[in-house]
Amino acid sequence: MTNRKELHPGRPPGPNGTWFKGSLNEFKKDPLAFLRTQAETFGPVSSFRLGPSQRFHLVNEPELISAVFADKEKRLVKSRDIQSLKAIVGEGLLTSEKAFHLKQRRMIQPAFRHTHIAKYGEEMTEVTAQIIRSWEGKTEINIADEMMDITLAIIAKTMFSMDFEEGSRIIGKPMETIMKLGIRRMRSPFNLPLWVPVRDNRRLKGAVEELDRVIYRIIETRKRSGENHEDLLGILMQAKEDGKGLTDRQLRDELMTIFLAGHETTANLLAWTFYLLGQHPEEQEKLHREIDRVTGDGVVNAAHFMSFSALKNAVWESMRLYPPAYVVGRQAETDLELGGYRIKKGDTILLSQYVMHRNASYFSEPDRFDPDRFSGGFMKSLPAGAYFPFGGGARICIGNHFSLMEAVLVLAVILKQYRVSPSDRGPAVKPQPLITLRPKYGLLMNLHARSGENGEEGSSK
Ligand code: HEM
Repeated sequence: MTNRKELHPGRPPGPNGTWFKGSLNEFKKDPLAFLRTQAETFGPVSSFRLGPSQRFHLVNEPELISAVFADKEKRLVKSRDIQSLKAIVGEGLLTSEKAFHLKQRRMIQPAFRHTHIAKYGEEMTEVTAQIIRSWEGKTEINIADEMMDITLAIIAKTMFSMDFEEGSRIIGKPMETIMKLGIRRMRSPFNLPLWVPVRDNRRLKGAVEELDRVIYRIIETRKRSGENHEDLLGILMQAKEDGKGLTDRQLRDELMTIFLAGHETTANLLAWTFYLLGQHPEEQEKLHREIDRVTGDGVVNAAHFMSFSALKNAVWESMRLYPPAYVVGRQAETDLELGGYRIKKGDTILLSQYVMHRNASYFSEPDRFDPDRFSGGFMKSLPAGAYFPFGGGARICIGNHFSLMEAVLVLAVILKQYRVSPSDRGPAVKPQPLITLRPKYGLLMNLHARSGENGEEGSSK
């Protein structure tokens, strides 16, 4: 790799790549390793091309990351891959921009206030306890798939008051197709509009229409019932801006957005946490002790959340090593300057949680799983922009508190009953960076039933 700074004054340093593809081949081979090497080789801001004209700038310094999130001069918008999701989620919170985004955010925010999240907490533990009843007698499960079912059921229940079995049955399949083909769409440099009847488009359109029917039915039923639920749908239906409520189309876009943004990330966070706990039985043992101490003979409930400090640390540390959102992008609307370098209109700025969270200047022994590092005031001691699993600035994840509570409570309900260990069957576990960072071949784990209060373990056979 050569430094191009001299050839292109002002542009951040980076590899030349080939004239047509740039660094596309190296990137595709292993995106995470590519990004990490890029930052380690070229420093705080580095530049590379994927394809003949698409230029990316990776930022790897907390202060600059914070500046990008703050975007004081309002010259950045969501990157092209997120924009391509508009075909699915329309103008929902994730994809909308500027004044319209701000308006939407104000209307949705009340659904994520602390008072509501406490109520969601009860539903989270109930849904999890119900779903894991089907684990009884099993000795091995694909924990990645199970977490996807649990988090989808939790979103359906908490946001739309849907019965979780009904939710999984009617949403699960179209959602799976949308996730799979939506990812293909996001990754493709060129997308045909959805109405062009090529095979992928037909399937994606079919799945979106199926989910649309479900969502419009939920809206219609709620309107007709006249019931007042304190869930996201209820809050959005009552919300007013300039005296006007949301149209059905706006409601649909927001519900679709929450379905899409609100389950896979947390499912992957949980899967990675179980994976790490399987690799580190001594850390899992600490969590068992905490759960037994806090919950005694009773079942896990939302009020326990405040007392689960070791569980929270394990979740923070899991999101450090395997951040479900491993990179976020912004596109420059005008030429601008960042860290003394020139960024051109149309270029994409990348902020990678995966790379920054493994920076040894802020995290000692960065590749080691060490939940205790998050005890005390560690998080507060970090500069802003060094640890950002939920992003930052005006576009910070609206579900950040929700998903932290969800991850902790789901873990607690499961670990109260089970110990997990790695399965020796199936392929080696490998991170797969798609929209979110997920275990490539799923995650098989062995289940061991714990026999109760004193933590003695039995077999679930
Ligand atoms: C571990 C779980 C989660 C992670 C790691 C995560 C991560 C993120 C990140 C990094 C962003 C910012 C993207 C950007 O700046 O381009 C974001 C935005 C968003 N997230 Fe999450 N998220 C999680 C869970 C959730 C949940 C549970 C919900 C909903 C219930 C949710 C809904 C959203 C929405 C609607 C946005 C767009 C916010 C806006 O632009 O105003 N997320 N998330």
